Amino acid sequence: MKAVLYDKRNSTNALVLREIEKPIPRDNEVLVKICAVSVNAADYRSMKMGIIPKSKIFGADIAGRVDAVGENASRFAIGDEVFGDISAFGFGGFAEYVAVPETALAMKPTGVTFETAAAVPMAAVTALQALRDKGQIQCGQKVLICGAGGGVGTFSIQLAKYYGTEVTAVCGEKNVKVIQSLGADDVINYKENDFTKCGKQYDLILAINGSRSLFAYKRLLAPKGVCVIVGGSLSQVIKSLLFGALLSIGSKKMRSLAAKPNTKDLEFIIKLVANGKVQPVIDRHYLLHETAEAVQYLSGGHALGKVIIEVASAPVVD
Ligand SMILES: NC(=O)c1ccc[n+]([C@@H]2O[C@H](COP(=O)([O-])OP(=O)(O)OC[C@H]3O[C@@H](n4cnc5c(N)ncnc54)[C@H](OP(=O)(O)O)[C@@H]3O)[C@@H](O)[C@H]2O)c1
Repeated sequence: MKAVLYDKRNSTNALVLREIEKPIPRDNEVLVKICAVSVNAADYRSMKMGIIPKSKIFGADIAGRVDAVGENASRFAIGDEVFGDISAFGFGGFAEYVAVPETALAMKPTGVTFETAAAVPMAAVTALQALRDKGQIQCGQKVLICGAGGGVGTFSIQLAKYYGTEVTAVCGEKNVKVIQSLGADDVINYKENDFTKCGKQYDLILAINGSRSLFAYKRLLAPKGVCVIVGGSLSQVIKSLLFGALLSIGSKKMRSLAAKPNTKDLEFIIKLVANGKVQPVIDRHYLLHETAEAVQYLSGGHALGKVIIEVASAPVVD
């Protein structure tokens, strides 16, 4: 099969297309013929930190068809259309096939394309766990989403609206129209206005991108408000882990999120996608041999929503 391997000895480009053995699923695994995979910050951040999958193949968010089933795997049959985040099982999505434990996968509704399903897992589950679990979102709250234009941000806006909140989104100028179309009630262009000086307070803040100081976020919280640090610079994430508890003395809470892949959450979100309540925003499509360009584009930090790699056009099943 064709796969994009990480090979740092390759001087011009560490992600190279190679022909390698097709994997064989173990007892609890299924073999997935991948149709589409999306790129995440987890791919390039792991690469930069030297955390390389054993297979040397990155790619977490896959969608495809079950091609073979391990002896003890019983949830899926050959031909089933599935999707999921396989980062907890060693990545492996930048390839034509991957063998993964069946517990990593959920069924893809037939009305949802493989590209759309591949855009969902990590970004949407992160948004959901930030809002619902860490943020304990409640209907009627005022929510601020900083870094609204990326994969996590675009899902966060739509999920926050689904929960019946009033959403203020912070993004760059070129993204304002799309962010408004996702339902944000107020959009602040961070290049023109400093959202920390707008004089408003929020019950829930998601700090996804565009690192402002933790103190600035805390000042924007209403009494009993919660700020969830989702992403941004590595130093911002580390500071929130170190000082979050200290800054949470009193009624305002500063929490950091380490999202975990979860098929129940995936099933919840894909239903919203299938019903048209949530739609992934897809910025660019690439082909498998263009994976290095796709990763480089996302790592620039200014993608609008998700970047998809089309691995194979969906084969017809009799
Ligand atoms: N905690 C977790 O478990 C978890 C899970 C997944 C991801 N993350 C983290 O979440 C972050 C976001 O990931 P992502 O996949 O959504 O997308 P991303 O590709 O990192 O974000 C790109 C978006 O960020 C916006 N942005 C950049 N600088 C900004 C600023 N100063 N203010 C406001 N927006 C700004 C860009 O908009 P412009 O082009 O307009 O600048 C662009 O739309 C990353 O840091 C990632 O590592 C954390």
